[in-house]
Amino acid sequence: MKYNINITKTKESRLNEVDFENIPFGRVFSDHMFVADYEDGEWINPRIVPFEPFTIHPASMVLHYGQSIFEGMKASKNLDGQPMFFRPEMHAKRLNASASRMCMPDLPEELFLEGLHALVGLDQGWIPPQEGSALYIRPFMFATDEFIGVRPSSKYRFIIFTGPVGPYYSRPVRLVAEQTYVRAVAGGTGEAKTSGNYAASLLPAKIAQEKGYDQVMWMDSREFKYVQEVGTMNIFFVINGKVVTPATDGAILKGITRDTVLTLLKEKGFEVIEKPVHIDEILAAHDRGELEEIFGTGTAAVVSHVAELAYGDRVITLPPIEDRKVSPMIKDWIDGMRSGRVEDTHGWVQEVKSLELVD
Ligand SMILES: Cc1ncc(COP(=O)(O)O)c(C=O)c1O
Repeated sequence: MKYNINITKTKESRLNEVDFENIPFGRVFSDHMFVADYEDGEWINPRIVPFEPFTIHPASMVLHYGQSIFEGMKASKNLDGQPMFFRPEMHAKRLNASASRMCMPDLPEELFLEGLHALVGLDQGWIPPQEGSALYIRPFMFATDEFIGVRPSSKYRFIIFTGPVGPYYSRPVRLVAEQTYVRAVAGGTGEAKTSGNYAASLLPAKIAQEKGYDQVMWMDSREFKYVQEVGTMNIFFVINGKVVTPATDGAILKGITRDTVLTLLKEKGFEVIEKPVHIDEILAAHDRGELEEIFGTGTAAVVSHVAELAYGDRVITLPPIEDRKVSPMIKDWIDGMRSGRVEDTHGWVQEVKSLELVD
């Protein structure tokens, strides 16, 4: 262990207050959090402390100028009851890619990973036992300099907290291609996992929901013709057995599930095409009867089936889930790897090291 992580345990665990059969998503938080601060050009004072509110200065730069980035990942138990992460180093790398775009400091990967192992090792009792449930993990970094004026902050805080979540049963979703608002433009911040991107998505998502859709399918900002992604998912189309997904162009988040899916599909011999995806191509494939599946990929649901897609006046309905081959198979591969049912030949699934082992 490279970093000396100071640990202050909670005096009284809240674990026995949790009803693991009935966990409201995003509202239950585990006993501890990992915290590190950045001052004078270095990360200092890595520590695990009881999970509790902290004070923030009204002039904290994050509140005004939005330097704030985050990750979303999960730990779950395999069939032997051993807590596991899935590709944790990819989240450390993506956090740093986001930091770089937002003019924030690099967080050493070892610090991210050591903090993560120590925290989840300590709070592993919070990982729900049921299959499909998980401990959701939220690493994030934000600007803490107390200063009014637009420039990069000189101080930052990095925190990881966690919370149990129940199985994510996502029913097939109805999507609408957005033709008024954009989420991101090439050259903008779309590829960074930064808070402002999500703030920008709220109004169009609300309007779409008022019209009866579940989520917005984001389109390019010039022509509203090229598909980008959906809510908190990357998007895939299965056309006549071939799997097509928008190439990441600087405006699309490089999903870790997306990368996992692309890797697995290629290995299994599927033809996988990453390219700019024009909406007319999708509609034409549907008209020819060749559009077999549309699905989203992301940490939360792994795979989310799309039931319906609207573009302007056109609404297309996708085949029933029972007739889909690719997306249910992918979900089964990934869930299987996490539980240990399916062999992990990539070293993607990694044991959570308990505190003793971290030392
Ligand atoms: C905008 C956006 N796109 C795609 C994804 C999927 O990424 P991942 O597979 O890494 O969860 C997410 C979730 O993090 C997201 O917020």
